[in-house]
Amino acid sequence: MKAIVIREPGGPEVLSLQEVAEPSLGAGQITLQVGATALNRADLLQRRGLYPPPKGESPLLGLECAGVVVAHGPGASGPPVGTRVMALLPGGGYAERVVVPERLALPIPDELGFEQAAAIPEAFLTAQEALFTLGRLEAGQTVLVHAAAGGVGSAAVQLAHAHGARVVATAGSREKLERVRSLGADTLVDYQTEDFAEAVSQVTEGQGADVVLDFVGGAYFERHMRCLAVGGRLVVIGLLGGVSADLNLAQLLMRRTQILGLVMRSRSVADKVAISQTFARNWLPRFASGALAPVVDSVFPLADAQGAHERMERNANIGKIVLRVSGSSAERLSD
Ligand SMILES: NC(=O)c1ccc[n+]([C@@H]2O[C@H](COP(=O)([O-])OP(=O)(O)OC[C@H]3O[C@@H](n4cnc5c(N)ncnc54)[C@H](OP(=O)(O)O)[C@@H]3O)[C@@H](O)[C@H]2O)c1
Repeated sequence: MKAIVIREPGGPEVLSLQEVAEPSLGAGQITLQVGATALNRADLLQRRGLYPPPKGESPLLGLECAGVVVAHGPGASGPPVGTRVMALLPGGGYAERVVVPERLALPIPDELGFEQAAAIPEAFLTAQEALFTLGRLEAGQTVLVHAAAGGVGSAAVQLAHAHGARVVATAGSREKLERVRSLGADTLVDYQTEDFAEAVSQVTEGQGADVVLDFVGGAYFERHMRCLAVGGRLVVIGLLGGVSADLNLAQLLMRRTQILGLVMRSRSVADKVAISQTFARNWLPRFASGALAPVVDSVFPLADAQGAHERMERNANIGKIVLRVSGSSAERLSD
């Protein structure tokens, strides 16, 4: 089959479409013919040799996909061959075929194509875990969502808004913020020119945010500790702004702050199944009605994974960058 291979650690130019061996189908697994996959920030790190796949998993890039079931491994009983499904993957999505534990497969609503469905698993399941499992966000509470025009951020804004929370969203340009407003954000902060901690203080009348979705880490830590409400939860999901910070334990203790780390890729299959099934129950039906929608920034053919990586490295995307795998010679749809 054809897949994107990392010729050597490096920039986007090291990605090339090559012939590779078919993935081997194990017990309880299904093979998917991949219709589309989507980029994640982790792919950029893996390409540079800085984020190796979990032991025993595919060395190929690709943490999510949408496709059709084409084969069952020993003991796997469903979903039937021909079913359209989407799934989180530990790797292997930048390829014509991938294997996945059958219990991780989520049905794709009829209303969505593969390119939309491929934009759902990583963004929405991560946002769900961060907001509700770790953040314990409740209706009427305030959440600060950084990188709100990114893949995970654009999903988090929609889920938090749908849950009845007040959303303060940051992004790096007016164009991005306008899109974020249309997803349900109540307060917009251009972090290049405005202070998000001040904005949170204003809208909460000095109380602070109940939950912060932190993709930035070190560079924002001190401000986060200041702008969290008493009993607030800081959910650390990404480290785009550095890994180190000074923690004032007295402040943590007095304000009963909770700092929670989140990682998806290295979780057990059982954890991922539980997360996927919660999503299927609570949120998936709302994609059929259009109340929730994956935000697709652009679609590149698989053969142009390089162009897709370059776009993400420029922080140019609003929502998810998708790779079309079936019929991968097709032209890019938008820029
Ligand atoms: N823990 C997990 O399991 C998990 C799962 C998924 C994603 N993540 C992490 O979550 C983060 C977001 O992922 P994503 O898929 O949403 O990425 P994305 O779509 O590429 O969006 C990231 C956005 O963050 C903003 N940004 C970049 N560098 C920044 C910095 N230093 N300070 C502030 N903002 C910055 C940029 O938008 P602006 O133009 O607005 O600055 C960029 O477009 C990444 O760090 C990713 O690794 C973690």
